Amino acid sequence: MNVPSSFNQVDQWKSVMFLYDSALKEISTKIEILNNEFVHIYSYNPIEHVKSRLKTPDSIVKKLKRYGYEVTIDNMVEKLSDIAGIRIICSFTSDIYQIAQMIAKQSDVTVLYVKDYIKSPKPNGYKSYHMVVTIPIYLTDGPVDTKVEIQIRTVAMDFWASLEHKIYYKFEGNAPAYLQQELKACADVVNMLDAKMFSLNQAILELSAQTHEDSGGEKRFREGELEEQP
Ligand code: GTP
Ligand code: MG
Repeated sequence: MNVPSSFNQVDQWKSVMFLYDSALKEISTKIEILNNEFVHIYSYNPIEHVKSRLKTPDSIVKKLKRYGYEVTIDNMVEKLSDIAGIRIICSFTSDIYQIAQMIAKQSDVTVLYVKDYIKSPKPNGYKSYHMVVTIPIYLTDGPVDTKVEIQIRTVAMDFWASLEHKIYYKFEGNAPAYLQQELKACADVVNMLDAKMFSLNQAILELSAQTHEDSGGEKRFREGELEEQP
């Protein structure tokens, strides 16, 4: 991203934040379209919900300082990947990879890097699929590639991560050992729950394929949709 040097700091800040905000809108629309297409083709809604946020000036400054960088707009654009952040919450682990792949293969999306904390969870038990992408934002002067961090996780992983986040901040990263152990134990329960929910859904799919052999494409039943099935 090239920040016009003729702009003063306030103008630069505003135009940079405008770009990140626009990038969030672009990615959110892509995700909504993918989800709608899924509903259209498979009568299945892989995404539970989506949250997006722009990093606050306060936490941008804190993070740059934490990394030991001078607080400048150039550093913020170059060194930080999560100024624009979007979180996609799905039902099943298999949905995560499908959504990630569908986003990555869009021709205007460039994947800068992926951190797969599902295949390799963090030592504390954190699981989630992270993807940092760029998307061109078309301004009057031409396109500007803008970074967005996309986090994709299941409902169960999200539940765990929000509790862990609360505990982490409450104790400023030094939670008592027993709490850390309990969290790790909860992460194991989350894994088991995700695995069991996945295989239960597979079993329902197989049953439904047997009873609706002529119904065509894959269908996944979701709570509330069961009554609507013929
Ligand atoms: P930061 O963690 O943001 O400094 O960047 P990083 O380069 O280490 O990236 P990473 O992909 O590890 O983490 C990016 C984001 O993922 C974080 O800002 C959090 O939102 C989330 N995250 C990463 N690790 C954890 C974790 O252990 N617990 C929780 N609750 N969230 C995490
Ligand atoms: Mg981190």
